[in-house]
Amino acid sequence: MPDLLIQRGHVVLPDGARQADIAVSGGRIESISKPGQRLSAGNFGRVLDATGMVVLPGAIDVHVHFRVPGGERKEDWESGSMAALAGGVTTVLDMPNTAPPTTTLQALEDKRHRIAPQARVNWGLFMGATADNLDEVKRARNIAGLKIYMGSTTGGLLLYQDAPLENIFEHYSGLIAVHAEDEQIIRANSLAFQESVDPLVHGRIRTITSARRATERAIGLARRFGRPVHICHMSTAEELDIVTDTRQYGVTCEVTPHHLVLNEQAVVEIGTLAKMNPPLRFREDNDALWAGLADGRVDCVATDHAPHLLAEKMGGYWEAPSGVPGVQHMLPILLDGVHFGRLTLERVAHATAQRPAELFGIRGKGRIEVGYDADLVLASMGDAHPVRLRDVLSRCGWTPYEGMNLYGWPEVTILGGEVVYDRGKFPTVVRGSEVTF
Ligand code: NCD
Ligand code: ZN
Ligand code: ZN
Ligand code: ZN
Repeated sequence: MPDLLIQRGHVVLPDGARQADIAVSGGRIESISKPGQRLSAGNFGRVLDATGMVVLPGAIDVHVHFRVPGGERKEDWESGSMAALAGGVTTVLDMPNTAPPTTTLQALEDKRHRIAPQARVNWGLFMGATADNLDEVKRARNIAGLKIYMGSTTGGLLLYQDAPLENIFEHYSGLIAVHAEDEQIIRANSLAFQESVDPLVHGRIRTITSARRATERAIGLARRFGRPVHICHMSTAEELDIVTDTRQYGVTCEVTPHHLVLNEQAVVEIGTLAKMNPPLRFREDNDALWAGLADGRVDCVATDHAPHLLAEKMGGYWEAPSGVPGVQHMLPILLDGVHFGRLTLERVAHATAQRPAELFGIRGKGRIEVGYDADLVLASMGDAHPVRLRDVLSRCGWTPYEGMNLYGWPEVTILGGEVVYDRGKFPTVVRGSEVTF
């Protein structure tokens, strides 16, 4: 007997959204009703009525910091997973800037052993680049890719000198993801602004030019050695232009929800809470990134979920760590964008699930298609709810989106065919699996 039938949803299939029933068996999508037809509800363990709801593939967030090991007071895989599930995110790729950083095979295995018993979403791991760990990275099995921090940010990973960068692009054939900010520009501007304590100084230090220079440099290296490169958390219209012009060489990119909906006005309003790398920019950048997302020049939306405790964030400008949480609110922000006509549901599904799966080569995920894993989200549209502090599930306990009234919320999240999130509750605990790349 199949396990689950999801009836009458508005289902976002790879070739477009339409009304359909979905049957799930053994954790996978077993069948999808043909247009105009129905699946009979007779013999299922459970039937979910999705009338009036949108059914999307579970989101794959390719950029999170779940802080294990070393930062568990900010987040761990229990709290991070719950925030993800409430946000319709069923798979996350975790970044290597933990403590210790994921730069050795031993650290990678240690992280796997810590995460496996805690994770309630599916997961994959990046390794981080140092000046001398390439041999070790090449021996790692089943990693998302190699992350290079070209500009300094939270955690100590940093690599910006020519020789080690060239060595990596020349000899690493896996996916290279870069944090593209120019370290020399950051350092020079930090000195120039050292007397200032205004949070707006962040954008004067980590300038648009610094993002553009590093992006150009990374893409230059990728083209020189014929490698694909993925630009993380693109924040400006300028980077989007560069990536657009070089897409044919295998350049891909992601944007965060905060760079879509927040800008320097948020820094004025919430100060260091809105401090992250790269910084928030301007309204024109928001608009350009939305447009790039709508027309497909932006490959994926990823949260850069970077929780820090409120007490840490409330230090002065120089003391406050960079980073904001986001994994719980990415889909609501995008569905709100659908409500206001900024993009289509099909684009949401593509940028949050299908494209991430393609780009990283994640097996069996990212589409609502027969044979694919039954990681699904049922979302309501057109009914506005404010983002409230008391609903925040990340251990950090705050959100930069507090008070935003959003149209479009995940109501039910399904992981491997099990209902793991249902309107504020977590009815079953299911262990997520490490994905296969
Ligand atoms: C991230 C963090 O806190 O780990 N912070 C941030 O401002 N984005 C690190 C990063 O992604 O650069
Ligand atoms: Zn980064
Ligand atoms: Zn990050
Ligand atoms: Zn409602």
